[in-house]
Amino acid sequence: MSDSSFGKEFCVTIFGESHGPGVATLIDGCPAGLKLSIEDIQVDLDRRLPTDPTMTSARRERDEVQIISGVFEGFTTGAPIAMLTWNKEVRSQDYDKLKVVARPGHADFPTSVKYGGFNDIRGGGRASGRMTVPIMMAGGVAKKLLLQIGVEILAHTVQIHTIKLERKLLLQTVKQVAYTNSVRCADPETAERMIERIRQARGEGDSVGGIVECIAEGVPTGIGDPFFDSLDADLAKVAFSIPAVKGFEVGLGFGASVIKGSENNDPYAVRDGKVVTLTNNSGGILGGLSNGMPIVVRVGFKPPSSIPRDQQSVNLEEMKDTSVRVTGRHDPCVVPKAVPVVEAAVAIVLADHCLRAHVIPRVIGKK
Ligand SMILES: Cc1cc2nc3c(=O)[nH]c(=O)nc-3n(C[C@H](O)[C@H](O)[C@H](O)COP(=O)(O)O)c2cc1C
Repeated sequence: MSDSSFGKEFCVTIFGESHGPGVATLIDGCPAGLKLSIEDIQVDLDRRLPTDPTMTSARRERDEVQIISGVFEGFTTGAPIAMLTWNKEVRSQDYDKLKVVARPGHADFPTSVKYGGFNDIRGGGRASGRMTVPIMMAGGVAKKLLLQIGVEILAHTVQIHTIKLERKLLLQTVKQVAYTNSVRCADPETAERMIERIRQARGEGDSVGGIVECIAEGVPTGIGDPFFDSLDADLAKVAFSIPAVKGFEVGLGFGASVIKGSENNDPYAVRDGKVVTLTNNSGGILGGLSNGMPIVVRVGFKPPSSIPRDQQSVNLEEMKDTSVRVTGRHDPCVVPKAVPVVEAAVAIVLADHCLRAHVIPRVIGKK
């Protein structure tokens, strides 16, 4: 399978470039009979654009989804679903000099070596945050599919630079509050401090990273596989496909390495006739399989590399040291935009594994 594709049953292929005509998704394997409208997809794309313009790059186009195939009379047909959005706000002249001088921290140098310089450099080409749009279009369908079996997915920001969400919040609070501020943090006071930190970094001609937590509730027990296709491996794989992701944890993650087994084990209990665990340090995954508890993952984003400062680099034509100052429109922090992208990535993986485990039927409902 090509690098542009993921999934065995819910097979997602993404394509397009940042400054090409558009970006698109093809989903093969989505069951027939799923009620699906443009609005179902559009809602998430709109959530990607924070309301506060100081939080993101000046490239703030509204992505309008078109469904090209696979939906008829408001329901999926079982045929491949193709969706696209056209790129509108393109300013490619910002990228001319980057053909020869690579941006430190960006994908320019290894990409030009791999593709012999034929790669599309404009806007970062495929190595652009813009490629999260097709991930989100596929995620929108996956989320709708998962809702049919009661699986709900929600992501929120838990850290920006050194500012952390310290309080443990109820899921209901996260649902209600996270999207009421530009940084997508469910605690308004912490959100204010995070927003201030991003503004400060931008003011200094710098950038910051952060951490997004994602929770999936209602995942049936026993979904996944034990080895190379384990649920955690696939979640990590798709999470790492999001540009700027540098860390991934399930449950306590690295925190589990510094406590004892007696502290880390989640005790079992029977509640309302169901096996549950009294804590959830495992993050809902054991042996590569879901254990029926909420799946909890955290995804770490680096500070975006394109900053308006002189940085040491090389001229690849002359093979000499030089310096580069990145101009153009760039995000001082990618986390606010990336929150719904993490939801989409988790949804794609869970939809694929639920179809593999036959807990979602190939036809939803009756005609
Ligand atoms: C939503 C989103 C927006 C992004 N915007 C920018 C940006 O404005 N400037 C930048 O340098 N990187 C941005 N990135 C990150 C780069 O695309 C990424 O760092 C680059 O492709 C190199 O890949 P890597 O960081 O995963 O190694 C963004 C990433 C995401 C997810």
